[in-house]
Amino acid sequence: MKINLTNTNIDKIKSDLQIVLVDNIDDVEEKELLESLGFEAHDEIIAFLPESGKIFVGFEEETYDSLAIAIATAIKKFQTTSFKSAKLDLTSLDSRVLKFIVEGTLLGAYTFDNYKSKKDKKKKQELTISIEEDSPSLDNIELNSILEESKIISKAVNKTRDMVNTTPADFYPEVMAEVAKKLAKDANIDCKIKGEKYLEKNDMNAMLSVGRASIHESQLIHLSYKPKEAKSKIVLVGKGLTYDSGGLSLKPADYMVTMKSDKSGGCAVLATIWAIAKLELPYEVHAVVGAVENMIGGDAYKPDDVLVAKNGKTIEVRNTDAEGRLVLADCLCYAQDEIDDIDYIFDYATLTGACVVGVGEYTTGIMGNDEVLKASAVSSAHNSGEYATTLDFNRFLRKSIKSEIADISNIASTRYGGAITAGLFLDNFVYEENKNKWIHFDIAGPAYVEKAWGYNPHGASGAGVRMTIEFLKSIS
Ligand code: BES
Ligand code: ZN
Ligand code: ZN
Repeated sequence: MKINLTNTNIDKIKSDLQIVLVDNIDDVEEKELLESLGFEAHDEIIAFLPESGKIFVGFEEETYDSLAIAIATAIKKFQTTSFKSAKLDLTSLDSRVLKFIVEGTLLGAYTFDNYKSKKDKKKKQELTISIEEDSPSLDNIELNSILEESKIISKAVNKTRDMVNTTPADFYPEVMAEVAKKLAKDANIDCKIKGEKYLEKNDMNAMLSVGRASIHESQLIHLSYKPKEAKSKIVLVGKGLTYDSGGLSLKPADYMVTMKSDKSGGCAVLATIWAIAKLELPYEVHAVVGAVENMIGGDAYKPDDVLVAKNGKTIEVRNTDAEGRLVLADCLCYAQDEIDDIDYIFDYATLTGACVVGVGEYTTGIMGNDEVLKASAVSSAHNSGEYATTLDFNRFLRKSIKSEIADISNIASTRYGGAITAGLFLDNFVYEENKNKWIHFDIAGPAYVEKAWGYNPHGASGAGVRMTIEFLKSIS
């Protein structure tokens, strides 16, 4: 979907269709007809009047959610037609909503049909948005830069969706490493790939063990973007389980389906650094991803094994399905050992089913040791269009991951608070000097939802990308 901005009055723009956003039906000429069709000015309500060439969509507030969902609803209707062009009048709204409209359009227009034998022809459709000349809040240059920025952000989200939706047969650790190389080349940033020999040599025994039964070699991916005058240094660490069968603590059949999505954190981190480089943001950013496949086999790591992580801490494995935290433990250590003077370190992972149970499938769980940083992560997530909430650590849950025979156990002794105990496990691999610079994002819910929601399709949503870009812009 191509998007153009223009100062031309809406009536003078030639196009096949017009999209009309309605928050008050009294303002609309076609009120009676729309009412007779049962149209109301509410979110997700749509009416298409082909004779007048108008698509009406309701919205309730000038917020990201309301407007992005409204425009996505209209765009999906537009895509079912053979019309080539549509126009939209934004002059009566605050021009700041342009971001919501552009992202709602591009995220809503996304489809994934790589595995369909008959593919929908990619129609070349375009949307022309009429903005007010010398808009009271923002000038044309600012609006064009919002358009360009939102395009890059949406592209990064859609790249993440494509990667996550790709099947485990087509996307295994070496493929993830190749994709990372391509993204790095495209964004002109540095890319280092390390295989299992490196993991062995560098005492990354926790990560190495998880991938041992896989026919695919585990890969440690490290991209870095270093602009000249960087304001701060941020490390993004991602869980890249290209498949999580559960290992010997095998998942039940119903729970294994969708586990191609266990690479979502890693994919989000790769697309985010790509976007940050494309946007030329003034921060040094590193993306560290542990790309691993958790399988069964004669060589599989076992419940009862004790693993030594890169920082020397010993981990009693009591469940091989709690593998993400083992991979992240070593990746967090790698990041802190290899990159000095870190200002912030964030990790992204589809880490626990418990997080989905606790906060629902649309919301990210945010954990960490610094209250102010956590609160700022939540508000950035909301500003960026994502849902997130904090989950608090406490001393009693911290005790529940103690082990009788090793320093720490990879599962808790309690069945409650599983998202938090997983976060507390990771805290053991965050060095003292970085405790208050670290945030853990559990994206197990929103990363992959088996139904369409708002402007998100069935499957991968690209969770994490938008909130991270917004967060970086706010903290530094
Ligand atoms: N990848 C899963 C978590 C997950 C579950 C992600 C559902 C997305 C949707 C993770 O590796 C896992 O299996 N976690 C276990 C931990 C348990 C064994 C302590 C879980 O959540 O059940
Ligand atoms: Zn697992
Ligand atoms: Zn997992």
